[in-house]
Amino acid sequence: MSDAARTPFEAPAWCNQSVCYTPEGLEVGGKQVMQYWERPLMRQLASYATRRRGRVLEVGFGLGISANYIAEFGCEDYCVIEAHPLIAEKARAWAATQSIAVKVVEDFWQNVVGRLGVFDGILFDTYPVDADAASNNYKSFLPCAQSFLANEGVLTYYSEETREFRSDHLQRILEHFDTVEFTVVEHLRVPVNCRYWKHDHMVLPCLSRPRVRR
Ligand SMILES: C[S@@+](CC[C@H](N)C(=O)[O-])C[C@H]1O[C@@H](n2cnc3c(N)ncnc32)[C@H](O)[C@@H]1O
Repeated sequence: MSDAARTPFEAPAWCNQSVCYTPEGLEVGGKQVMQYWERPLMRQLASYATRRRGRVLEVGFGLGISANYIAEFGCEDYCVIEAHPLIAEKARAWAATQSIAVKVVEDFWQNVVGRLGVFDGILFDTYPVDADAASNNYKSFLPCAQSFLANEGVLTYYSEETREFRSDHLQRILEHFDTVEFTVVEHLRVPVNCRYWKHDHMVLPCLSRPRVRR
Protein backbone atom coordinates (compact mmCIF):
# COMPACT_ATOMS: atom_id res chain seq x y z
CA MET A 1 0.00 0.00 0.00
CA SER A 2 1.38 3.45 -0.84
CA ASP A 3 1.95 6.04 1.89
CA ALA A 4 -0.83 8.14 0.39
CA ALA A 5 -3.41 5.33 0.64
CA ARG A 6 -2.79 4.78 4.35
CA THR A 7 -4.49 6.56 7.22
CA PRO A 8 -1.92 9.17 8.25
CA PHE A 9 -0.02 8.48 11.44
CA GLU A 10 -0.80 11.27 13.89
CA ALA A 11 0.41 12.11 17.38
CA PRO A 12 -0.71 15.70 17.91
CA ALA A 13 0.06 15.46 21.61
CA TRP A 14 3.73 14.98 20.70
CA CYS A 15 3.88 17.80 18.16
CA ASN A 16 2.37 20.26 20.65
CA GLN A 17 4.74 19.42 23.49
CA SER A 18 7.17 22.04 24.72
CA VAL A 19 10.83 21.62 23.79
CA CYS A 20 13.53 22.43 26.30
CA TYR A 21 17.31 22.37 25.76
CA THR A 22 18.98 21.69 29.11
CA PRO A 23 22.66 21.29 30.07
CA GLU A 24 22.10 17.49 29.89
CA GLY A 25 20.28 17.45 26.57
CA LEU A 26 16.80 17.67 25.08
CA GLU A 27 13.47 17.39 26.88
CA VAL A 28 10.11 17.29 25.15
CA GLY A 29 7.07 17.79 27.34
CA GLY A 30 9.31 17.28 30.39
CA LYS A 31 10.53 13.86 29.15
CA GLN A 32 14.23 13.16 28.63
CA VAL A 33 14.49 12.51 24.90
CA MET A 34 18.19 12.82 24.16
CA GLN A 35 21.30 13.49 26.24
CA TYR A 36 24.90 14.44 25.49
CA TRP A 37 26.38 11.33 27.15
CA GLU A 38 25.05 9.44 24.11
CA ARG A 39 27.71 10.95 21.85
CA PRO A 40 29.80 7.74 21.60
CA LEU A 41 26.66 5.83 20.62
CA MET A 42 25.75 8.40 17.97
CA ARG A 43 29.26 8.29 16.58
CA GLN A 44 29.09 4.53 16.13
CA LEU A 45 25.63 4.70 14.56
CA ALA A 46 26.80 7.41 12.13
CA SER A 47 29.89 5.41 11.29
CA TYR A 48 27.72 2.44 10.33
CA ALA A 49 25.20 4.56 8.41
CA THR A 50 27.90 6.25 6.29
CA ARG A 51 29.83 3.06 5.60
CA ARG A 52 28.77 3.10 1.97
CA ARG A 53 28.58 6.91 1.90
CA GLY A 54 25.93 7.39 -0.83
CA ARG A 55 22.42 8.42 0.29
CA VAL A 56 21.88 8.42 4.04
CA LEU A 57 18.53 8.61 5.83
CA GLU A 58 18.18 9.50 9.48
CA VAL A 59 14.94 9.20 11.41
CA GLY A 60 14.78 11.60 14.38
CA PHE A 61 16.98 14.72 14.50
CA GLY A 62 16.96 15.28 18.28
CA LEU A 63 20.05 17.26 19.19
CA GLY A 64 21.62 16.66 15.78
CA ILE A 65 24.57 14.82 17.33
CA SER A 66 24.43 11.88 14.94
CA ALA A 67 23.66 14.29 12.08
CA ASN A 68 26.93 16.08 12.79
CA TYR A 69 28.84 12.80 12.79
CA ILE A 70 27.18 11.79 9.51
CA ALA A 71 28.25 15.11 7.96
CA GLU A 72 31.76 14.63 9.37
CA PHE A 73 32.12 11.07 8.05
CA GLY A 74 30.62 12.17 4.74
CA CYS A 75 27.95 11.03 2.33
CA GLU A 76 26.50 12.08 -1.01
CA ASP A 77 23.29 13.39 0.45
CA TYR A 78 21.53 13.26 3.76
CA CYS A 79 17.81 13.25 4.49
CA VAL A 80 16.34 13.50 7.98
CA ILE A 81 12.72 12.90 8.98
CA GLU A 82 11.71 14.78 12.12
CA ALA A 83 8.19 14.89 13.52
CA HIS A 84 8.33 17.71 16.04
CA PRO A 85 7.95 21.13 14.36
CA LEU A 86 10.34 22.97 16.69
CA ILE A 87 13.03 20.29 16.34
CA ALA A 88 12.50 20.22 12.57
CA GLU A 89 13.10 23.98 12.63
CA LYS A 90 16.43 23.35 14.37
CA ALA A 91 17.25 20.76 11.73
CA ARG A 92 16.57 23.28 8.95
CA ALA A 93 18.82 25.84 10.63
CA TRP A 94 21.53 23.17 10.94
CA ALA A 95 21.04 22.16 7.29
CA ALA A 96 21.71 25.73 6.14
CA THR A 97 25.22 25.51 7.60
CA GLN A 98 26.20 22.19 5.99
CA SER A 99 28.31 21.58 2.92
CA ILE A 100 26.63 18.25 2.07
CA ALA A 101 23.17 18.18 0.45
CA VAL A 102 20.55 18.02 3.25
CA LYS A 103 16.82 17.49 3.06
CA VAL A 104 14.64 17.93 6.15
CA VAL A 105 11.24 16.25 6.04
CA GLU A 106 8.91 17.42 8.80
CA ASP A 107 6.55 14.54 9.49
CA PHE A 108 6.30 11.15 11.14
CA TRP A 109 8.36 8.56 9.27
CA GLN A 110 5.26 6.38 9.02
CA ASN A 111 3.72 8.93 6.62
CA VAL A 112 6.62 9.69 4.31
CA VAL A 113 9.36 7.12 4.34
CA GLY A 114 8.16 5.25 1.25
CA ARG A 115 8.41 8.25 -1.04
CA LEU A 116 11.93 9.45 -0.36
CA GLY A 117 13.78 7.01 -2.62
CA VAL A 118 16.32 4.34 -1.81
CA PHE A 119 19.10 4.73 0.77
CA ASP A 120 22.55 3.24 1.22
CA GLY A 121 22.56 3.85 4.95
CA ILE A 122 19.75 4.34 7.48
CA LEU A 123 20.10 5.52 11.07
CA PHE A 124 16.92 5.09 13.11
CA ASP A 125 16.73 6.79 16.50
CA THR A 126 13.27 7.95 17.47
CA TYR A 127 11.45 8.33 20.76
CA PRO A 128 8.10 6.76 21.66
CA VAL A 129 5.57 9.47 20.85
CA ASP A 130 2.56 7.44 22.01
CA ALA A 131 1.71 4.21 23.82
CA ASP A 132 1.90 2.11 20.66
CA ALA A 133 5.32 3.47 19.73
CA ALA A 134 6.49 2.73 23.26
CA SER A 135 6.07 -0.96 22.70
CA ASN A 136 7.00 -0.83 19.03
CA ASN A 137 9.76 1.62 18.19
CA TYR A 138 12.23 -0.11 15.82
CA LYS A 139 9.96 -3.16 15.62
CA SER A 140 7.60 -1.51 13.16
CA PHE A 141 10.49 0.02 11.22
CA LEU A 142 12.47 -3.19 10.55
CA PRO A 143 9.97 -4.85 8.18
CA CYS A 144 9.38 -1.73 6.07
CA ALA A 145 13.04 -0.72 5.87
CA GLN A 146 13.61 -3.46 3.32
CA SER A 147 11.63 -1.57 0.69
CA PHE A 148 13.75 1.59 0.75
CA LEU A 149 17.17 0.18 1.65
CA ALA A 150 19.54 -0.51 -1.23
CA ASN A 151 20.31 -4.21 -1.64
CA GLU A 152 23.83 -3.60 -0.36
CA GLY A 153 22.71 -0.96 2.15
CA VAL A 154 22.87 -0.98 5.95
CA LEU A 155 20.39 -0.16 8.71
CA THR A 156 21.44 0.72 12.23
CA TYR A 157 19.51 1.93 15.24
CA TYR A 158 19.52 2.76 18.94
CA SER A 159 18.95 -0.73 20.29
CA GLU A 160 18.51 -0.42 24.06
CA GLU A 161 20.45 -3.68 24.37
CA THR A 162 23.23 -4.73 26.71
CA ARG A 163 25.52 -7.74 26.23
CA GLU A 164 22.48 -9.80 27.18
CA PHE A 165 21.01 -9.03 23.75
CA ARG A 166 17.44 -10.27 23.93
CA SER A 167 16.85 -13.39 21.85
CA ASP A 168 13.44 -12.22 20.59
CA HIS A 169 15.08 -9.05 19.32
CA LEU A 170 17.77 -11.01 17.48
CA GLN A 171 15.14 -13.33 16.06
CA ARG A 172 13.18 -10.33 14.78
CA ILE A 173 16.29 -8.96 13.09
CA LEU A 174 16.99 -12.29 11.40
CA GLU A 175 13.43 -12.48 10.13
CA HIS A 176 14.15 -9.48 7.94
CA PHE A 177 17.93 -9.38 7.42
CA ASP A 178 20.48 -12.08 6.62
CA THR A 179 23.46 -10.34 8.19
CA VAL A 180 23.91 -8.48 11.45
CA GLU A 181 27.07 -7.30 13.13
CA PHE A 182 27.40 -5.79 16.57
CA THR A 183 29.57 -3.22 18.28
CA VAL A 184 29.71 -2.86 22.05
CA VAL A 185 30.09 0.82 22.85
CA GLU A 186 31.75 0.92 26.25
CA HIS A 187 32.56 3.46 28.95
CA LEU A 188 29.28 5.35 28.67
CA ARG A 189 29.09 8.05 31.31
CA VAL A 190 25.41 8.01 32.08
CA PRO A 191 24.39 10.63 34.65
CA VAL A 192 22.62 9.29 37.73
CA ASN A 193 19.50 11.30 36.92
CA CYS A 194 19.13 9.73 33.48
CA ARG A 195 15.73 8.05 33.48
CA TYR A 196 16.09 5.90 30.35
CA TRP A 197 19.50 4.16 30.52
CA LYS A 198 21.71 3.05 33.38
CA HIS A 199 24.35 0.73 31.91
CA ASP A 200 27.90 1.70 31.03
CA HIS A 201 27.62 0.12 27.59
CA MET A 202 25.16 -0.55 24.80
CA VAL A 203 25.29 -3.06 21.96
CA LEU A 204 24.55 -1.47 18.58
CA PRO A 205 23.51 -3.60 15.60
CA CYS A 206 24.23 -3.02 11.93
CA LEU A 207 21.85 -4.93 9.67
CA SER A 208 22.51 -5.73 6.02
CA ARG A 209 21.39 -8.07 3.25
CA PRO A 210 17.63 -7.54 3.62
CA ARG A 211 15.82 -10.83 3.07
CA VAL A 212 13.34 -9.27 0.68
CA ARG A 213 15.48 -7.70 -2.03
CA ARG A 214 14.13 -4.83 -4.01
C1 LIG B 1 16.38 10.44 20.56
S1 LIG B 1 16.03 11.77 19.53
C2 LIG B 1 17.18 11.57 18.20
C3 LIG B 1 18.57 11.88 18.65
C4 LIG B 1 19.57 12.05 17.53
N1 LIG B 1 20.01 10.79 17.03
C5 LIG B 1 20.76 12.85 18.01
O1 LIG B 1 21.90 12.44 17.75
O2 LIG B 1 20.59 13.91 18.63
C6 LIG B 1 14.50 11.27 18.84
C7 LIG B 1 13.88 12.22 17.83
O3 LIG B 1 12.94 11.47 17.04
C8 LIG B 1 11.81 12.28 16.77
N2 LIG B 1 10.72 11.34 16.47
C9 LIG B 1 10.05 10.54 17.35
N3 LIG B 1 9.18 9.76 16.70
C10 LIG B 1 9.28 10.07 15.38
C11 LIG B 1 8.63 9.58 14.21
N4 LIG B 1 7.71 8.62 14.27
N5 LIG B 1 8.99 10.12 13.01
C12 LIG B 1 9.94 11.10 12.95
N6 LIG B 1 10.58 11.60 14.03
C13 LIG B 1 10.27 11.08 15.23
C14 LIG B 1 11.65 13.11 18.03
O4 LIG B 1 10.87 14.26 17.81
C15 LIG B 1 13.11 13.39 18.41
O5 LIG B 1 13.57 14.59 17.84
